[in-house]
Amino acid sequence: MSIQESIKIIPKGEIAIVEFDMVGEKVNKFSTPMMVRFKEVITELSKSSYKAVVIVSKKPKIFIAGADIDEIQTMTTKEQFMKAVSEGQNIFNMLEDLPQIVIAAVNGACAGGGCEMIMACDYRIASEDSSTKIGLPETQLGILPGFGGCVRMPRMIGLQAALDVILAGKLLNTKKALKAGLVDRLIHQNQLLDEALKWASELIKEGKGKRRKTFEPQGAMNKFLEGFIGRGIVFKKAREGVLKATNGHYPAPLKALEVIQKTYGSSDREGSLLVEREAFCECAVTDISKSLIHVFHLTEMVKKQSGVPGVQMKPKEVKAIGILGAGTMGGGIAYVAADKGIKVRMKDLSWEALGKGFKHAQDLWAKLAKKKVIDQYQLNQKMNLIGGGVDYAGFKTLDVVVEAIVEDMGIKQKVIGETAGNMRADAIIATNTSSLSVTEMSKGHPRPEFFAGMHFFNPVNKMPLVEVIRGEKTSDETIATIFELSKKMGKMPVVVKDGPGFLVNRLLLPYMAEAAFLLQEGMSIEVVDKAYVKKFGMPMGPFALMDEVGLDVCMKVLKIFKKAFGDRIDIAPLMDKLSAGSRLGKKNGKGFYSYSADGRRGEVDQSVYTELGLPTPTNPYDEKECIERGVFAMVNECSLALIEDRIVELPDEVDLAMIMGTGFPPFRGGLLRYADSLGAKYIADQLETYSSQRKAGRLKPSAPLKKLAQENKKFYAGT
Ligand SMILES: NC(=O)c1ccc[n+]([C@@H]2O[C@H](COP(=O)([O-])OP(=O)(O)OC[C@H]3O[C@@H](n4cnc5c(N)ncnc54)[C@H](O)[C@@H]3O)[C@@H](O)[C@H]2O)c1
Repeated sequence: MSIQESIKIIPKGEIAIVEFDMVGEKVNKFSTPMMVRFKEVITELSKSSYKAVVIVSKKPKIFIAGADIDEIQTMTTKEQFMKAVSEGQNIFNMLEDLPQIVIAAVNGACAGGGCEMIMACDYRIASEDSSTKIGLPETQLGILPGFGGCVRMPRMIGLQAALDVILAGKLLNTKKALKAGLVDRLIHQNQLLDEALKWASELIKEGKGKRRKTFEPQGAMNKFLEGFIGRGIVFKKAREGVLKATNGHYPAPLKALEVIQKTYGSSDREGSLLVEREAFCECAVTDISKSLIHVFHLTEMVKKQSGVPGVQMKPKEVKAIGILGAGTMGGGIAYVAADKGIKVRMKDLSWEALGKGFKHAQDLWAKLAKKKVIDQYQLNQKMNLIGGGVDYAGFKTLDVVVEAIVEDMGIKQKVIGETAGNMRADAIIATNTSSLSVTEMSKGHPRPEFFAGMHFFNPVNKMPLVEVIRGEKTSDETIATIFELSKKMGKMPVVVKDGPGFLVNRLLLPYMAEAAFLLQEGMSIEVVDKAYVKKFGMPMGPFALMDEVGLDVCMKVLKIFKKAFGDRIDIAPLMDKLSAGSRLGKKNGKGFYSYSADGRRGEVDQSVYTELGLPTPTNPYDEKECIERGVFAMVNECSLALIEDRIVELPDEVDLAMIMGTGFPPFRGGLLRYADSLGAKYIADQLETYSSQRKAGRLKPSAPLKKLAQENKKFYAGT
C-alpha cells in the first residue's frame, strides 16, 4: 500500500473528510513521507470546491502522536533540522490558510505535531474518551514545539495556560483542554465524526467563515496579567519556576519561554515562526536532547518487550492478585494494582495491620479526589476492588500473589510454602524482597518454576521501576507474566538475575558508602548533597537518600554486601557509630537531616557531627571530586554487574533501571550513557587517582572497566 492510503480524502457532499491512518504503524505520526502526503492533500483541498474539511484519525486510541522521533534522532546538523522544521511550519500555514472551514475531530492522543496541527485548524471537537490527551510534550525531549506551537498556543489559550503546557511538556485531559480553550466542544467517541460533520454543515449554512481563535481573558487580574505590564511578571515567575524545577540543567523550557516572550502578541506570523525555528534548532542539536530521546526510546523498548528475549512467550492473564503483608510496600502495591482495575486481596496477621494497608491506598486516592483528578464515585469503585483478611480465604481464585512481609528468609520461606498450598497449582508467587536471594527463597515453594522476584521501589505509587528477578528455577512463563503484570500496573519492568542487591541497590550502595567516607574525610553533608542535586542533577543527595532508606537498613545491607563482595565494599567507621545510635533517618524523624512531624525534610541536623566525633567540616575537596567518587563508584560496580555477572543483559537496561529506580538525571541519558560520554579511560584513571590519593582500595578500577579503557571501547558497544 502506498503513502496515499495513509492520509485519504473521503468526500461527503460539500465536506471533505481527511482521514489519517498511517500504513504499517500502530500510531499516526508526522514522518517526512507523511508530511509530504499531507502537503499534497492540503494542495488538493485548496483547489477543490469543498466548503469544509473535517480531520479525523482511524487509529483506535491515537489521533496523531507527534513528529517521528526516530527521524529526529538521526538528524545531527542545524541545517537538517532547519529544513525539516521550515517545511513543517509551511505545511501548517497552508492548512491555516485553506479557504475552507477546517474542523479537527480528535479521538486519542494528540501530542506535539498533532496538537500543533489542530491549532492551525479553525475549530476543534474532541471525544470524551480517557485516551484523548492533547498537548505539547516537546520540552521533555529537550526540544520545543517547532511547527508553530509556541506561537499559536499562547494566542489561543492565553499566556499562563500555554506556559503551563509548554514549559512542563504537558498533555491535557479532555476536561482541562476544554476549560483551557484548546478544544471548543466534547462529545462521546461514537458520535464524534457525525457531530463534526453536523457542525461543519451548520457553519456552512450560517455562512460562518474562517476563524483564528484568540484568547479572551476573564476577570481584572487575568486581564492585567495578559496585558503588556502584567506579562513581564508572568514571564519572570515562569523563568524562576523552571530554574527551581530543573536547576538549570534543561535548556529547552527556557528557550521556549524566550520564544514566547519575543513573539507573544505579534501579528507577524513569518517573523514569529522564524524565531521559533531558530530556537528549535539550537535545542535539537544538543547532547541533552539526544540523551532525553535515548530515554524515550528506552521506555518505548519496554512497551514492546515480553521480558523473555528471543522466545515467543505468552504471559498468563492476571485478573486478581493477592498481597501478603499490608505494610508500607503492601499498601502501595494494592493501590497501584487496584488503580489499574486489578482485583486485590490483602492478607496480614491482624485486622489492625490490614487497616493500615486499606488506609494507605485510600489516602492516595483521596489526594487525587481533592485535586479533582478522580471523583468520589471513582474512588469508591477503586476501593471496592481491594478486599482482605487474616486467612487464605479466596486465594484459590488468585492468579498471582505478591509477598511483602518481614525481611526474614526463614519466615518468608515458611509463609511462601503455606501460601502455595492454598493457591491453584498454576498460580505464581512473587517476592518483593529487597536484599534476600530469590533462588534461596524459592526453596520454600513446592513448584519453584512458579516463583520469581517482583521488586517495587518505595514509595510504590511514585517510583516507576520494578525489577523482575529470575531465580535459578523461575520459568519463562512466570517471568513473562510478572513482566506483563508490572506493565499493567503502570510500571517499567526490567528483568534482573538473582544476586545481592539485584541491580539498582547493588549500584546505589557503593555510592552511598562513598558519601560516608567523604563525611569522614571532612566534607559537610550540605556541600556533598548540594553538589549532587544542583550540579549533577540527582533528585536528592546521598545523605538525604540514606535518610529515606533508613540508616539501620543501609547498615544492614552494607554488611550483606561486604559479606558478598569482600574488599570492594568498605564501610566508613562512622556508619558503625551511626547505626549504634538512635538515628534511623526519616522514619523516626532523626537522621543526617531533621524532619518535621509530617515527615518533611528540614535542615542538616548539626548535632550529627559531634555525635559522630567529627570536627567541624573543612570541605577539603571540590564538587568535582565529591561527584566523581560517588558516580564512578557506581560505574565501577556496574562494569562488574553487567559485563562479568550479567545481572542484566544490556546497557539499555542499566540506564532505564537507574533513571526509573533512582531518578538518575534523565538529561544525562542514564549511568552508562553518561559514562560513555566521558570515556572508560577517563573514569578508570580518575578512580586510580582517588584510590591512591585517598588510600581507598575500594575505588580501584575493576578489571572489566580497565579492559574497556585499554581497548578504548564503550559500554554501549562493548557488551
Ligand atoms: N520499605 C521499603 O523501602 C522497601 C522497598 C522495597 C522492598 N521492600 C521489601 O518489602 C517487604 C515488606 O517491607 P515493608 O517496608 O512493607 O514492611 P512493613 O513492616 O511496613 O510491612 C510488613 C507487613 O507484613 C506483615 N506480616 C509480617 N508477617 C506476616 C505474615 N506471616 N503474613 C502476613 N503478613 C505478615 C506485617 O504485619 C506488616 O504489616 C520486605 O521484604 C522489604 O525488604 C521494602
